[in-house]
Amino acid sequence: MKKLLFSIITIMFLLIAVIGCGGQGKQSVSKQKEIPSIPHEIDNSMVCADCHKEGKNKAPVTKHLDRPNCTQCH
Ligand code: HEC
Ligand code: HEC
Repeated sequence: MKKLLFSIITIMFLLIAVIGCGGQGKQSVSKQKEIPSIPHEIDNSMVCADCHKEGKNKAPVTKHLDRPNCTQCH
């Protein structure tokens, strides 16, 4: 009897986990824009704006250089 109760609880937990993740996945696709990951190497001495302000070295220009911590998102 104890074993049965344990399996039921385990199954419930797994179901909740699966449903929860599914919902989150849908939301991030429909509501949030995808954040592009950095395709090149970075180090602490880099100034991102050097290239990303005017598109130097064919870097994609971004309008949000005012955001302080680039790697917080990227
Ligand atoms: C020396 C110039 C240079 C510097 C400095 C630089 N980048 Fe880049 N970045 C590029 C180039 C060129 C690309 C184009 C993709 C590639 O590498 O082929 C790029 C691409 C990107 C992309 C992908 C954009 C997209 O639309 O996919 C992100 C995000 C990015 N850089 C973030 C950063 C961050 C954050 C920093 C600072 C830590 C930084 N970059 C510093 C040159 C630079
Ligand atoms: C709050 C999160 C956040 C921060 C901080 C941030 N970015 Fe972004 N970045 C994004 C998102 C989201 C996108 C996708 C395009 C968009 O919605 O603007 C993006 C896109 C980009 C791109 C692709 C070109 C474009 O604008 O679409 C580059 C290059 C880039 N970011 C560079 C940077 C640099 C350099 C910094 C630091 C000065 C930075 N990002 C800080 C969220 C962020």
